[in-house]
Amino acid sequence: MPHNSIKSLFENSAEWIGKVVDVKGWVRSRRGNKYVQFVALNDGTSIKSLQIVFDLEKFNDEQLKGVTTGSAIHVRGLLVESQGKGQTIEVQAETLELYGTADPDTYPLQKKGHSLEFLREKAHLRPRTNTFAAVLRIRHALAYAIHKFFNDKGFYYFHTPLITASDAEGAGAQFQVTTLPLEDLPVDKEGNIDYSKDFFGKMASLTVSGQLEGELGATALGCIYTFGPTFRAENSNTPRHLSEFWMIEPEMAFYEIADNMDLAEEFIKYCITYALEHCKDDIEFLAEHFDKELPERLKFVVENEFIRLPYTEGVKILEESGKKFEFPVYWGVDLASEHERYLVEEHFKKPVILTDYPKEIKAFYMKLNDDGKTVRAMDVLFPKIGEIIGGSQREEDFDKLKNRMEELGLEGMDWYLDTRRYGSVPHSGFGLGFERLVLFVTGMQNIRDVIPFPRYPKNCEY
Ligand code: 4AD
Ligand code: MG
Repeated sequence: MPHNSIKSLFENSAEWIGKVVDVKGWVRSRRGNKYVQFVALNDGTSIKSLQIVFDLEKFNDEQLKGVTTGSAIHVRGLLVESQGKGQTIEVQAETLELYGTADPDTYPLQKKGHSLEFLREKAHLRPRTNTFAAVLRIRHALAYAIHKFFNDKGFYYFHTPLITASDAEGAGAQFQVTTLPLEDLPVDKEGNIDYSKDFFGKMASLTVSGQLEGELGATALGCIYTFGPTFRAENSNTPRHLSEFWMIEPEMAFYEIADNMDLAEEFIKYCITYALEHCKDDIEFLAEHFDKELPERLKFVVENEFIRLPYTEGVKILEESGKKFEFPVYWGVDLASEHERYLVEEHFKKPVILTDYPKEIKAFYMKLNDDGKTVRAMDVLFPKIGEIIGGSQREEDFDKLKNRMEELGLEGMDWYLDTRRYGSVPHSGFGLGFERLVLFVTGMQNIRDVIPFPRYPKNCEY
């Protein structure tokens, strides 16, 4: 092992006390007097920084000159129980190796706390702050939990393309992918852009969802899930939208809508439980600094059954609430975040799975109910977030699906119809917005703060 991780020293301190350790990391802060200097060293493995004690009889000012906030160092020394309060263990430095200094006059992250807005401007350095490191460790843990959950259930990780020639589902405006010269576009006889000259010989875009290809996987392997980036070119400047976000899309052959809801609820509870168990220190840190109710909210979601409610009843509750909403509410309307949050935060005070939406406001592939008006959709609505999951049972009937696609003028997707043409089965699936899950588990307020390099309108740094 090249050196001791700070996390492992805290976790196994009994084993290491009295031994010489090697620690490597970045200086968070330095303080002290003319006899002794204390450095808080963080290596990214833990929210806790390790205190390094430099005895000024062993080290002179010249040697310690470069040890300032942000600089990278290697210290070898004895791990001891700490005399001071505020930490349990510390290292009595014996040797110091300075890797890279950070000029205190220009290093943007000083010891004093910075606002999240300021840090967004410095997104390339913010993982070095306690807050973002905590968020990113939780993000990692959730990603791992997702793979573990599905793997343990016998689902296969199925890779769907990021570049696609299908307009998928109209889930959102797409980013076009082209190598055509924009300043001199080739045109055909009618004066239209000649996409046969483009890289793929046709118009192509970044995917808004892997679902349709996922259905091809599920109708062969049984249960699959995707977990990858998706892209939506909507001009949504909200704290819950990104132009590039990660989505998890399980798709299951032989699942009906109720099975789909059971899976979604079990899945999301599993992920939150995993984070509560494995990211305790980071969640506590975020709770202390940003959101005191966070741990309680997470436990509450895990311990309570989600409400399951048809859209029609949800709309009735909203209409009868007497509440003045910014956007009007009536049967047939696509619910706004304020409506969803009213149901969850004020009316039920629990997560809600809203089902059976009007077909006009949902995607073409959703299974039509017997009433001919609603489809077997399910949106999982969460406190603080609104919609965290969107899914449905899929229309497995070839004729109904084909008609609906014709009604909507969807062309060039005969390959998708083949799933219904040959060996069609009832099947269901859903999509979880990964960043919305991370947002919920970290208690952060803005989705731009839970992905390392956020992409949103007018912003594509790094
Ligand atoms: O509801 P959506 O659009 O559903 C689909 O894409 C389906 N194909 C899913 C499926 O059935 N397989 O998106 C699914 C989820 C939303 O519930 C939300 O959590 C998240 O993706 N999402 C976004 N997250 C961040 N930024 C955006 N712009 C998002 N748009 C959707
Ligand atoms: Mg949706």
